[in-house]
Amino acid sequence: MTDVVSYERHGTIGVITVNNPPVNALSVGVRRGIVDSLSRGLADGAATALVIMGGGRTFIAGADIREFGQPLAPPDLNEVIAWFEDSPKLVVAALHGTALGGGLEVALGCHYRCAVGSAQVGFPEVKLGLLPGAGGTQRLPRLIGVEPALPIIAGGDPLPASKAQALGIIDEIVAGDLRDGAVAFAARLVAERRPLRKISASDGKVLTARSTPGLFDAFRGSIERQARGYFAPFRCVEAVQAAVTLPFAEGLRRERELFLECMQSPQSRAQIHAFFAEREVTKIPDVPKETPTQPIMTAAVIGAGTMGGGIAMNFANAGIPVQVVEAAQTALDRGIEVIRNNYAATVEKGRLTQADMDRRLALIHGTLAWDAVADADIVIEAVFEEMGVKKEVFARLDRICKPSAILATNTSTLDVDEIATATARPEKVIGTHFFSPANVMRLLEVVRGAKSSKETIATVAELARRIRKVWVLAGNCDGFIGNRMLAGYLREAAFLVEEGASPEQVDKVIYDFGFPMGPFAMSDLAGLDVGWRIRKGKAATRPTTQRYSPVADRLCERGRFGQKTGAGWFRYAPGSRTPRPDPEVEALIVASARAQGIERRAVSDDEILERCIYPLINEGARILEEGIALRPSDIDIIYIYGYGFPPYRGGPMYYADTLGLKRVYDDIAAYHRAHGEFWQPAPLLTRLAEEGKGFRDLARA
Ligand code: 3HC
Ligand code: NAI
Repeated sequence: MTDVVSYERHGTIGVITVNNPPVNALSVGVRRGIVDSLSRGLADGAATALVIMGGGRTFIAGADIREFGQPLAPPDLNEVIAWFEDSPKLVVAALHGTALGGGLEVALGCHYRCAVGSAQVGFPEVKLGLLPGAGGTQRLPRLIGVEPALPIIAGGDPLPASKAQALGIIDEIVAGDLRDGAVAFAARLVAERRPLRKISASDGKVLTARSTPGLFDAFRGSIERQARGYFAPFRCVEAVQAAVTLPFAEGLRRERELFLECMQSPQSRAQIHAFFAEREVTKIPDVPKETPTQPIMTAAVIGAGTMGGGIAMNFANAGIPVQVVEAAQTALDRGIEVIRNNYAATVEKGRLTQADMDRRLALIHGTLAWDAVADADIVIEAVFEEMGVKKEVFARLDRICKPSAILATNTSTLDVDEIATATARPEKVIGTHFFSPANVMRLLEVVRGAKSSKETIATVAELARRIRKVWVLAGNCDGFIGNRMLAGYLREAAFLVEEGASPEQVDKVIYDFGFPMGPFAMSDLAGLDVGWRIRKGKAATRPTTQRYSPVADRLCERGRFGQKTGAGWFRYAPGSRTPRPDPEVEALIVASARAQGIERRAVSDDEILERCIYPLINEGARILEEGIALRPSDIDIIYIYGYGFPPYRGGPMYYADTLGLKRVYDDIAAYHRAHGEFWQPAPLLTRLAEEGKGFRDLARA
């Protein structure tokens, strides 16, 4: 027996416990260990039935993802599960924490399943570009029916125990100690002479699906939009379909074929990269997990505009009371009204109860009185994007707030260190750059000022976890990580239309690449006036020799601020979010090209893709070299969570590696020759390309 699985008898029941922290993944040692323990339990004359459970914080959370890509050492998980199902002694799976993927498949190989009320079960494989590969797609539909099984397998979201029980995945919810409850449950099943239920042998539920052949096409149709571009969700459907059309053993073989197809797909490798990147991102070398944090019991937000309202909702959603301070009553009333309407819309969609809405609203206190922030543990400023205003606000906060309070700014472009100079506590000043809409978007860039203390960083990190954000540490520079990279992407999009592409052609190329929308639709959604104001502020420092597309400025001068004004790069019918091409914009583009002496031409889709995506990579390389981002994979997380970069391409830096940095460098160098200084290859990119390396090699250095 391996030391990661133990066998012990409790009365007449043998208990197999998996102990492979942190999540009891099914590594080769665990697979061997549970087979050995099963043999031991079967040989134990005093054991009338067996229980399998997880030690520590969870049942088995799935296959060991780190073993993927290597030759799989025996025993195969399918074999292990078959041994459980064929066991002549009754076997019960006892679930707590998360029984996911291969873990749930082991549980489905058992004759019965019990769980504590807080347990969750699910098949998250699809989120790794995979499908359940150890019988999950064949057993789950046999257990609960095809229709409820499809979204669980192709959607990947976990189910709470109560829902799993209602569906028939869990037979019994255990109150109190899980092991005692599971032992008692197993003993009761033995006493009642309950049969050894083999899910693989019960075809009743899948047979009924044979009479509704349209079911699978209808389901494919229902996920088409959400799963656009993804490979795995559609293979999941095919695997479940095999459960309906084929006998169990053949269905299992089909599942294996589809599993291997997914496993070998570049998408799965990219999604697994993103999975580990998301876990790596919170590891800050000089701010270890043990760094002390300050308790955050109360918060304040300054400014109840677009961002302030959303940020306040984050606090309320996490149960943290928040004061929202505004400059004028009308702005405050409008801000609170927007918050109320946002919550009401969620209640209407059935995703929040009225009681929860009332509880959350009660935590948000709007005020014009600055004294209200005196006791806040953290204040997040979200006022106008002007240095003078920001400094005034910070100086005032510094006077009013208790000395321990953290003062954070939501600025998207301004220098956090300069803002900190307005206070006598620069070590407590930090950037918290939320993304719009702040109550929805998962990403938070935490901007480390030169003097931000480790305790301040650790406290904000802990707060980010509480408000369920994916946070990434960024250094202090213009645009931080995400927006600094985006500048080149937007610049090239504007140049491309001057050179002959249309906004709809550019947007289609980017949409087909996998972004939810292209650069022009995105700008229209965010509001063109935001960038306009920033550009006006920087106009004096822009070198006159540099190419500059004035089209966006011309649009703003005509009051075309995007969706909110019904027109921007596109035109929008009243109440519609669908972008429609607009001849007025085409005329502005043509005029701008003419004024600059640009001869318009047909621009290929390939050129559009390269010219939009390569600037992300090139600037990303600079950001890495300057230490603004800690790791290439941190940049990938920012782009996946903040900008809609397709997760199945792994993020811009990972994507660059899949293209090969030599190719990326050569292409960028060619654009440099053709278009000049904006395309100067980043030194880091040049070096890695010369050395035949990828960004991934930096992560290992
Ligand atoms: N294999 C290997 N390592 C894993 C793992 C897995 N399946 N799941 C989690 N880990 C690692 C994480 O990388 C992390 O490592 P680190 O501490 O070195 O960074 C550590 O375990 C803890 O993970 P989290 O930080 O994510 O811990 P949480 O408590 O927040 O979440 C969890 C726990 C819900 C289990 C989450 O880790 C998770 O969703 N894991 C993936 C589950 C999954 O996808 N399972 C299916 C695998 S594929 C499969 O089973 C194929 C089968 O059908 C044949
Ligand atoms: P906004 O204009 O919608 O809201 C700003 C609010 O601040 C207004 O309601 C205004 O009345 C209030 N305000 C101004 N001065 C004040 C003062 N001295 N005291 C109290 N309240 C004051 O602006 P928005 O879009 O919410 O932006 C706020 C900040 O967030 C800016 O720094 C912006 O750069 C940043 N940001 C904006 C994003 C966006 O998409 N809108 C995204 C990320 C960051």
